[in-house]
Amino acid sequence: MKTDKRATLGGKLSAVLVAAGSSVGLGNIWRFPYVAGENGGGSFLLVYALCVLLLGLPILLAEFAVGRAAHRNTVGAYRTLAPAWRFLGYNGVVTALLIMGFYFVVSGWTLEYTVHSLTGELGRYATAEAYASAFDAFIRDPWRPAVYTVLFVLLTHGIIAWGVQKGIERSAKVLMPLLFLVLVVLAVRSLLMPGSAEGLRFLFAPDFSKITARTLLVAMGQAFFSLSIGMGCMVTYASYFNSDTNLRHTALHVTVLDTLVALLAGIVIFPAVFSSGIAPTSGPSLVFVTLPGIFNSLPLSMVWSTGFFLLLVIATLTSTISLHEVATAYFHEEWHLSRKAAAWTTTLLVGTIGILASLSVGVLNGWRIAGLNLFDALDALTANILMPLGGLCTSLFVGWRLDRRTFDEQLTNRGKLRFRIRSVLIFLLRYLCPLVLLAIFLDNLGVFKGL
Ligand code: TRP
Repeated sequence: MKTDKRATLGGKLSAVLVAAGSSVGLGNIWRFPYVAGENGGGSFLLVYALCVLLLGLPILLAEFAVGRAAHRNTVGAYRTLAPAWRFLGYNGVVTALLIMGFYFVVSGWTLEYTVHSLTGELGRYATAEAYASAFDAFIRDPWRPAVYTVLFVLLTHGIIAWGVQKGIERSAKVLMPLLFLVLVVLAVRSLLMPGSAEGLRFLFAPDFSKITARTLLVAMGQAFFSLSIGMGCMVTYASYFNSDTNLRHTALHVTVLDTLVALLAGIVIFPAVFSSGIAPTSGPSLVFVTLPGIFNSLPLSMVWSTGFFLLLVIATLTSTISLHEVATAYFHEEWHLSRKAAAWTTTLLVGTIGILASLSVGVLNGWRIAGLNLFDALDALTANILMPLGGLCTSLFVGWRLDRRTFDEQLTNRGKLRFRIRSVLIFLLRYLCPLVLLAIFLDNLGVFKGL
């Protein structure tokens, strides 16, 4: 079929880079700090680390194995490996479209902040409160955030249309390490602020009494979101890996890099939060309010803030590309549309949801779904329900249903590599991941309330 015509990625480094490009994004720099801030800081970090290690890493590997074994988009992959599991592929495509619905809105904010840095507007305010109200006024504006959302969708579309190899591979290569460097500089600056010790304590000292079932659910959702797992994104990407890519090393490197970036973001944000008296629980605005304050305290603040937001835009772009690719590869291969038509189908769908989600923060805020505006509803539905559900089914599929020989072939590159952790991995995928995910779900639905 289509397999022979499909693009494959270059060397070993490319696989790590594109997969890390997908996972490192707003999830690490925007979502992680505010979610950790809302859920107890150090205790959240501890639960988060356990989720990444025991649930995230095995499921990431499982998705890699499925993707490279099938060499197809996520629906096609499950359809060819086991037709009854097709639903898992569809769950992924729907989840991708819903995530993009709100992700592009925040992407648009980062684009607007880049422009505001350049024009000097971002350096104009003196206090954290002033930054908070400026941010609030901006995201409620009926026009500007929606325009930036659409711009970001089109930017992503452009790269997707350019093609997998050229577009995705190249854009990930140079700029990710640069982002890392700037984060380190900002972390040092933040640590030198008065009161930074309190911020570090908040981020690193666990308070076990604060760990609740809710912490577990949110940490799991964040781990899935940050690693780009539970919805076929890594299945799609691994379908472009070549046969020499070491899946275990790739998964390990991606997980470590992704977690390091989130930690660094925390080390940048929390000292600044405590030093400027902002509440760590202030939600999605947290990063957009604290960062300008840090930049203002630096010499050449405009250079730093423009540089940072530009790099954030690029890190975000490598993530939006991966989300867009899930749906585009599906429309292209399953509906037999040309790649161009498939990309436009995705772009029009997410552009529409994105505009609505953007407006739902402001003028359409009264329009509620289960008590939440559209933006928050899309985030909650995907991170708390659809991705963990996808992860649950993925671990069940690879643990119980996928032919063991296929699995071994993928993890050993047809016998070329040794596979020492095989039994641990299979145990995690067969028992631990499904049971933990199921327990968290049932608890979330209130099943254990009476006990
Ligand atoms: N992981 C990315 C981030 O942290 C977002 C992302 C890209 C994603 N692809 C995904 C999230 C697939 C969930 C599923 O910003």
